[in-house]
Amino acid sequence: MLRIGVLVSGGGTNLQAILDAIDEKIITNTEVAVVISNNQGAYALERAKSHGIAAECVSPKSFASREAFNEALISRVDAYGLDLIVLAGFLVKIPEAMIAKYRNKIINIHPSLIPSFCGVGYYGLKVHEAALARGVKLTGATVHYVDEGMDSGPIILQKAVEVKEGDTPQTLQRRVMEEAEWKILPQAIQMIANGGEA
Ligand code: GAR
Repeated sequence: MLRIGVLVSGGGTNLQAILDAIDEKIITNTEVAVVISNNQGAYALERAKSHGIAAECVSPKSFASREAFNEALISRVDAYGLDLIVLAGFLVKIPEAMIAKYRNKIINIHPSLIPSFCGVGYYGLKVHEAALARGVKLTGATVHYVDEGMDSGPIILQKAVEVKEGDTPQTLQRRVMEEAEWKILPQAIQMIANGGEA
């Protein structure tokens, strides 16, 4: 049984997609041991609680320094004996010590086809604003392993999504979530849980 921890910052629709996929047995051999948010108000924490899953907030605001926050985050993650850490809209930089400790055991979902529209400053709606500003006709989402760089780790899965005439950042974000993110993130977890190579 793969024990996963899901790290979130916001609404948690990707978390929900994981929970639904486990319920529907699209993901097997996997349990969500904990959901951790950096933001106490994240709706994702409510989704975890209503599923009977441990939900914790570790906020940088509660610590005197970044180092103290990083240590606390690592120690809360360690406490659950996780096999895989899933960044599902987690908008905090992962401490290098955590990346080294969980090498190839941290995956992230990014709402573009990496290497387009990724790296520093590209998160959430900003990614879709940039894709529309550039006029791309195809965008999508990527699941990748997390390394020391920003969105630079090995790619596990990608799925393309069409940009449509009249799209706004919001309509494009929603289509990328529905057609790509909510599919490939559960699919990547299923592959990892069942020993499949990506
Ligand atoms: C998702 O679109 C995810 O790909 C993005 O944040 C959103 C979180 O939504 N992540 C990034 O931009 C990471 N660079 P959710 O809380 O509803 O899952």
